[in-house]
Amino acid sequence: MSDTLKPETIAIVKATAPALRKHGLEITTRMYERLFVDPDVRALFDQAAQESGEQPKRLAQAILGFAENVDKLEALSGAVERMAHRHIQTGVKPEHYPMVAAALLPAIRDILGDAATDEVLSAWGEAYGLLADILIAREKELYQLAA
Ligand code: HEM
Repeated sequence: MSDTLKPETIAIVKATAPALRKHGLEITTRMYERLFVDPDVRALFDQAAQESGEQPKRLAQAILGFAENVDKLEALSGAVERMAHRHIQTGVKPEHYPMVAAALLPAIRDILGDAATDEVLSAWGEAYGLLADILIAREKELYQLAA
């Protein structure tokens, strides 16, 4: 597990973040279309929506916004803590993380088209992977504490 990203990767993520933000809702919608093909994943969100009273579209927006700050992770520790707790409440497991990546990255390409080059998608994939590693590690501790 790597705990840093190459400066080039961070630069690409930051340079493309405004385009992703601009099309955030479309990317989010497309991501969920892809993600919810799996009924088990869909069930996690149905349960969360019942509690929060809304379809949790803010998740994808959060991933995009969070990735923009991937070069200042120490400032995100409060956010990591909140996410990890919410994930524990809703039963998110390590094996779900690749599914979200596999839905998010093609969704970015679907919406941005040719602007989402392989280089751009690979940079976003790396940023996502780093955040996923951090969340998975914290969630493991929380699941152990709860057991
Ligand atoms: C790097 C990856 C991820 C990031 C940055 C992220 C971020 C977030 C954030 C910010 C929230 C809202 C927390 C709050 O209520 O304050 C959230 C909630 C949630 N996440 Fe994640 N998440 C990630 C991966 C995943 C994965 C892999 C799954 C499972 C498929 C997942 C499922 C959920 C669910 C079910 C909720 C609850 C939504 C609700 O409260 O309505 N997340 N996540």
